[in-house]
Amino acid sequence: MELKCGKDYHTSFDVENYLDFYREPKLNEFQYVARHEFWSRLAPRKNLRVLNFGGGPVISDLISAAPFVEEIIFAEYSERNRQAVEKWRQNLPDSHDWSAHFRFIVENLEGRSGEEAAIRESELRRKITHILPCDIEWDNPVKWPSSWESQSAMFDVVTTSLCLEACVTSKESYRHAIGKLKKYLKPGGHIVMYGVMEETYYLVGQERFYCFPLTRNLIEETLASEGFKTFNEIKLLAVSLEAYCDAKEIFFATATLEEV
Ligand SMILES: C[S@@+](CC[C@H](N)C(=O)[O-])C[C@H]1O[C@@H](n2cnc3c(N)ncnc32)[C@H](O)[C@@H]1O
Repeated sequence: MELKCGKDYHTSFDVENYLDFYREPKLNEFQYVARHEFWSRLAPRKNLRVLNFGGGPVISDLISAAPFVEEIIFAEYSERNRQAVEKWRQNLPDSHDWSAHFRFIVENLEGRSGEEAAIRESELRRKITHILPCDIEWDNPVKWPSSWESQSAMFDVVTTSLCLEACVTSKESYRHAIGKLKKYLKPGGHIVMYGVMEETYYLVGQERFYCFPLTRNLIEETLASEGFKTFNEIKLLAVSLEAYCDAKEIFFATATLEEV
């Protein structure tokens, strides 16, 4: 079967089919626990500025971040995905219902009340201040509002999930992609990546999408060669997800850019 990639994301990537991956919070427990731990470690820092790159139609990877951030810039390649997030941000009646994910993270992982889960939802809606187009192929891969100054070294955290492996085609282009995202980080800032190991395709409904097979070595070598000197951790979980993809493991990696 032909593998979809690149511009196919504009036409063949069906939002509702993709969100089947997110129908239950439990399916994403690995990343939610890892994110909860990451953001808990950053506390008591507050008012951070976060760039989420290639967010798709998904916001649940930002739930743990919300209390610590001043604003989140949500960058995404496909207009349909951006519209799905915009609908959720405006709380429109036909937007995707993420409330079970808020409850899972705020109640189960943080030990707070259901009321606080609902408050977190409003907080995240407010803190996603911009939803912008992006393309990792561009020299400056986010289309910033024209009135903005350069966003180089303007973010405390750049986060990206299941995105770079969907776009790059070689070790070199993986390194270039991380190098481009690195430029947005302040010295001492953090890159946060969730993704899949050794995956060559994933399914969205009946459509089969391309994936570049990552390895732990490649991720570690790339981060080190891009100047992420204090490599913090990489968590791995073996998976068997035949109904969706041929990934062998999922990973969660964070790394810190050296202060100059
Ligand atoms: C597997 S989805 C991941 C979505 C979401 N981040 C998640 O965690 O579920 C891959 C994402 O990569 C985006 N993408 C595809 N080509 C891209 C490109 N050239 N530059 C940036 N993002 C791209 C797609 O639009 C899609 O949102």
